[in-house]
Formats: sequence, C-alpha cells, structure tokens
Amino acid sequence: MSTTRRKFLQQSGLVSASLIFPQALHIRHTPPVRPLIDPNSLAQFVDALPIPEIARTTEYRPSPANPAAKLPYYRFVMRQVESKVHRDMKPTRFWGFGSSSPGPTLETRSGQGLLVEWVNELPATHFLPIDHNIHGAEADKPEVRAVVHLHGAKAPPESDGYPENWYVPGKSALYHYPNNQDAAMLWYHDHTLGINRLNVVAGLLGVFIVRDAVEDSLNLPSGKYEIPLVIYDRMFDEQSQIYYPVSPDPKAPWVPEFFGDAILVNGKLFPYLEVEPRRYRFRVLNGANGRFFHLSLSNGQTFHQIGTDQGLLPAPVPLDHVLVAPSERADLIVDFTDHAGEQIVVKNDAFTVMQFRVGKQKTKDPSSLPSALRPVPKIPESEAAKTRMLPLIEIDDLVQNPVTMLLNRAHWNMPVTEDPILNSVEIWNLINLTNDSHPIHLHLVRFQILDRRRFEPFTFKVRGELKYTGNPVPPDPNEAGWKDTVRADPGMVTRIIVHFEGFVGRYVWHCHILEHEDNEMMRPYDVIAAR
Ligand code: C2O
Ligand code: CU
Ligand code: CU
Repeated sequence: MSTTRRKFLQQSGLVSASLIFPQALHIRHTPPVRPLIDPNSLAQFVDALPIPEIARTTEYRPSPANPAAKLPYYRFVMRQVESKVHRDMKPTRFWGFGSSSPGPTLETRSGQGLLVEWVNELPATHFLPIDHNIHGAEADKPEVRAVVHLHGAKAPPESDGYPENWYVPGKSALYHYPNNQDAAMLWYHDHTLGINRLNVVAGLLGVFIVRDAVEDSLNLPSGKYEIPLVIYDRMFDEQSQIYYPVSPDPKAPWVPEFFGDAILVNGKLFPYLEVEPRRYRFRVLNGANGRFFHLSLSNGQTFHQIGTDQGLLPAPVPLDHVLVAPSERADLIVDFTDHAGEQIVVKNDAFTVMQFRVGKQKTKDPSSLPSALRPVPKIPESEAAKTRMLPLIEIDDLVQNPVTMLLNRAHWNMPVTEDPILNSVEIWNLINLTNDSHPIHLHLVRFQILDRRRFEPFTFKVRGELKYTGNPVPPDPNEAGWKDTVRADPGMVTRIIVHFEGFVGRYVWHCHILEHEDNEMMRPYDVIAAR
C-alpha cells in the first residue's frame, strides 16, 4: 500500500479492525513470469476435506532425560511429494512429511514424552526463490536445509529446532518432547534461518495435539467429531505448481509479505466436509506465512471458541467471526443440530474457504459444551521481576519499500538482549512503530495478554518516551487464555506477561509473518539460571 493510501485510510478512520491486517500492505511484486491459476475459475466443493492421518508407532527408545524410561519413537521423513490440490488441477509438488503435506498428526498426552527423528530426505535443489542477501541464506550455504520446530512446545533447547541448527538432505535430528504442558493444539514446521518462509510454503508443516484429563472430563466432541482445519494460502501457476512471488530486483528477490489467492484447508482448495446435525470440534490453525484469517459461517450462525494457542479458555466464547493471525490456533465448537440438510460455507471475509454439508438424518449427540472449561488464573502484574520495552520497527528504503524489520532495534547476529531468569515473571511491552500488525511468538513459554494501548509513535521515536493516547484495551474474550502468539497491532503497545518456566537455554522470539521473520524480525533469547 502506498503512503498516500495509508494516510488516507488513517485520516478517514478506516484503519479499523478489518484494515489493520497487512493483507494489502507493500505488495510490490514483479508480475509472475508464468501465468497463474485463478482459483475463482475452478469448481467449488468438488473435493472432500482430507484429514491428516494420525502418526502411529510401535517402537520405543530410551528417554534422554532418564535412560531407564522408554519413550515412543517416531520417524518423520521430509521428502518431496505430489498431491492434488483440486480435482481439476494437475498434481502439485510439495515438501511434506512421509507422504503428505500437512504431515501426519502427532497425538500425545500431557506428561507423556516422545521422541521424533526428523529426517531430511528432501531433494538437493530448492524449487522456490532463495534470496542470498538474507542473513543465514548466503550463497555459500547449501540450498536445501531444514530444521523442525514444534511450535508451542515446552521443549528443551536442544530439541527446539534452533534456526541455525539446520541440516542437509541425508541427515536427521532426534528431538525429545517431554510434553509437560496442558492439553493444546501445537504444530510443527520448518524453522531454517533465512529460508523458513520458503520451506513452509513448500509444505513443511503438521499438527501435534496434547490431551489431558481436564479436557477428557469435559466430554467435548471427539473422535471423528473432532477435526483439525489447517488453513493457509498459496498461489499456483498454470502447471498447478506453487508460485512464490519475487521483488522487482532479481538480485534481492525477498518480498515483505506473501498473500496467495488460493486458500487451502488441510491441503485442498475449496473442500467440502460431510457432517452430521450435531456438535463438532474444529481445531483451527492459521498456517499461512502472512495472511490473517477472519472466518465466519455463511448462514451467520454463532459458534463457540473454547481454546486458544495454549489450551482451553476459562469458558466458551460465543462468536460470529473469529480472527486468526498467522500461527494462532482457535479451538471451536460448531453446532449443526438445527441445520440438518443445509450447506454452510466457511468464509474468510468475502472469500470462500470450504463447505459443510449437513446430513438430513438426525443423530444422537452425547457430547457437551460445558459452561466452564479450565480456569486460567491471572498472573498478577506485581509478580513481574522485570518489564522490557521492545520496539518493533520497519526500515524502509528511499521509496518506502521495507528492507528489513527489527525487534528491539537489533539484528539476529547481535548479542542477546532478552535474558529472563528461569522461573521469573516478566512483562514485555511490544511497542509497534510500524504500520502492520505483527503476530509475535515466543518459543518455550505460554503467556497472557495484559492489554493493548494506543501511543504516540513520534514521541517514542524521537525521545524514547511512551506517551499514551488511549486507555488500555483488555484482550478480546477469545484471547483471554494462554497464548504463545499475540497480535501486536500498529500504533499500539501490546503488553504480555510471561512466566519463564521449563528449561534454561537459548530460544528465539519472532514475528510469525515468515517473510518478516526471515528478514531479521527474529531474535535469540536466553533463559538463564538464577544465581
Ligand atoms: Cu511457529 Cu518460531 O515458530
Ligand atoms: Cu514456536
Ligand atoms: Cu511482522
């Protein structure tokens, strides 16, 4: 978006909830060399929604934490696969796990640790445009590299998929996930320094579900009535192959955001799902690089959000729209009981995502939607040992093209500045000086959102002073649970409160718009031992 357009929107007060998302910002791509498929030219709802298979294993291996204990061992192989996105498209090349993208779903219980060997058997060349100016992706680095991070996991640092711990085809890494955490939907995805955005667009992602006794006791819809919906956008050329845009400068192909016009659910374009007239639980993950989804049902019906990134909310929140930023998860209950025989479309604002076909046959629904789920005790602000001021900034060139984005004014390579003490509580003030909303994610921990508050960016830039121009706004009801990713909206200070529990060691925090993350909007942080 040009500055004039931004100014116009700001002056006209149109920079409101639906416009702060970066959908339209900085789109300065060169026109694609190959013609693209227009998804609107394709028939809708001709493919059934695929549901990723649940990973199974019979193998056990010793736990690194306690060699006397044996843990389930899984082998996940990253390889090039082909699959059809739509009935009328040719097979598309993906990078997936095993034989699919999204990869198989891992399921475990809280406290039940497991081992995953992440094996890189990808081809020797990348099929998407690497930018060698990007830090970590220099021309002397191997083209194909991978390392997997389990997003939302309370995992030891050596199993966290540190972006520099990438490895090449033919190599693997054995990671240990202790899973000492509440029931939640986590997800695994590539995290390779400098090419993360490309590896994820290529398809390196999947779902990981942790269950526990509290969740069991709620009698939520389960089994075939609980379905993951992994939503992301892509672009396809006329050969049905993934297209990733490049900037007008052939020597610096990085683009500041990627927005595809084809919205996929579990890897299919415009899928349908046959459902019974009863309650369903949908585990929604926004797996997009940069697109925010604002989802609703075409019949306007209300649904309930019961959980966030890190598990159950205190109580169900009724909604008719849900906003899901990249990497956020929304645990939803949709009740089709009164909609037998209807066809209901899931919309992303004006766009079509998928269709539910509700059966005519009345069925028994033994599940429930309890009015209380899991208490989320507020972390008192008085417990914070430290408050950090963390500006988010965008550095533009002379014609206002973003060239890089930074956290706390630092590049990836600079010394660690965030070094919380293990078991301490901190408040992080995410001071957004840019015009975009950035979904900020911290590895290892879960946190609570305290509030968002409008401030005067100019005074902060010039004098480093925070001058608030509005009152603190509490988190939305469906954000008032445990989070691991938070929308830092433009012109706002977003405050989060974090208890740094689990492990001592090196982790990262970053913007989950992967184009930003790859171009310096990511920082290492250390959890350090108390002295
Ligand atoms: Cu979804 Cu650093 O992760
Ligand atoms: Cu993560
Ligand atoms: Cu960002």
